[in-house]
Amino acid sequence: MKSHHLRLETLFKLCDKICMTTFKDPTAHKLSTRDLLDIPSITAGDIETIIRRARVHRERLRENTHYRTKLDGKVIISLFAEPSTRTRVSFDMAAYRLGAKIIYWDEANSSVAKGESFSDTIKYLSSYKPDAIIMRHKDYNAPHFVASQVNCPVINGGDSYRAHPTQALLDAMTILDYKKTLEGLTVAICGDVAHSRVAADNIALLTMMGARVNIIAPENLLPQKTKFDNVHFYTDMQAGLENADVVMMLRLQKERMEAAAIPDEIAYHHEFGLTNRTLKFAKPDAIIMHPGPMNRGVEILDDVADDPSRSVILKQAENSVPLRMAVLDLLVS
Ligand code: CP
Repeated sequence: MKSHHLRLETLFKLCDKICMTTFKDPTAHKLSTRDLLDIPSITAGDIETIIRRARVHRERLRENTHYRTKLDGKVIISLFAEPSTRTRVSFDMAAYRLGAKIIYWDEANSSVAKGESFSDTIKYLSSYKPDAIIMRHKDYNAPHFVASQVNCPVINGGDSYRAHPTQALLDAMTILDYKKTLEGLTVAICGDVAHSRVAADNIALLTMMGARVNIIAPENLLPQKTKFDNVHFYTDMQAGLENADVVMMLRLQKERMEAAAIPDEIAYHHEFGLTNRTLKFAKPDAIIMHPGPMNRGVEILDDVADDPSRSVILKQAENSVPLRMAVLDLLVS
């Protein structure tokens, strides 16, 4: 496993170097799957391919030499049935940067409001022959259902508490900007893990790539079980943050909680908030991450969220566009 990762790191560096110097299209191979539904349904090789490709897109965006016509003529349906700022807008940016057109389906203004089923909606949308569907939905596994009904790639922008694969991929890309390898890292994921699709796919990706994951949450917000190795559960910040290279904070996802399970925010902050005091439990060079949206003053304080030397939260946001460009490029072009 170790030598495999060392070889990959060398390959990343070599590939980046070749891509940056020659600007040849570095797509060595496609992904092993038509759709991007969740992290467990892709391989470590797919993850490496997407991140490598995203680094190329990032470099080309910085140099203003990005592939403006890669997806020329492609029409993508953006089907967000739950609120989103980061995922929806960065997918839009990614598609436009590559030359694709986006058609928006907006549940509130769709015929679902007149009683049409989601299933019928998908049949109609599929008959228009889109080149891809990017979707977010509150229902568990909704993207799998859509993928079974259509003849184009389906990209999951988050469903229920189950999966958010592009968030996990951009988080991994960001960690690799600072830590160079995932293998052997300790990543502490702190907050409402039980209701978090971000945590679910991050746990899948990080453990697949050889990291240790410490989950820190109050008893009622810990997941019931995990099928992944090297995941450790804590109900105490000090113990859970010990030796952490990465501290990933999550908000309380009240929209997916029973009313009785919602903790008192002041008490929650006192025990599980990330502050300059609790951050000292992690390694001195630990980076601070948050997928957003942040509830400042609850799971995280301004001082740490905006710490210019430790917080990489805006770097996550910056990486989301090239990462999503890579996904569209690999699945749609
Ligand atoms: N991180 C994330 O999924 O943010 P949005 O809900 O704003 O898309």
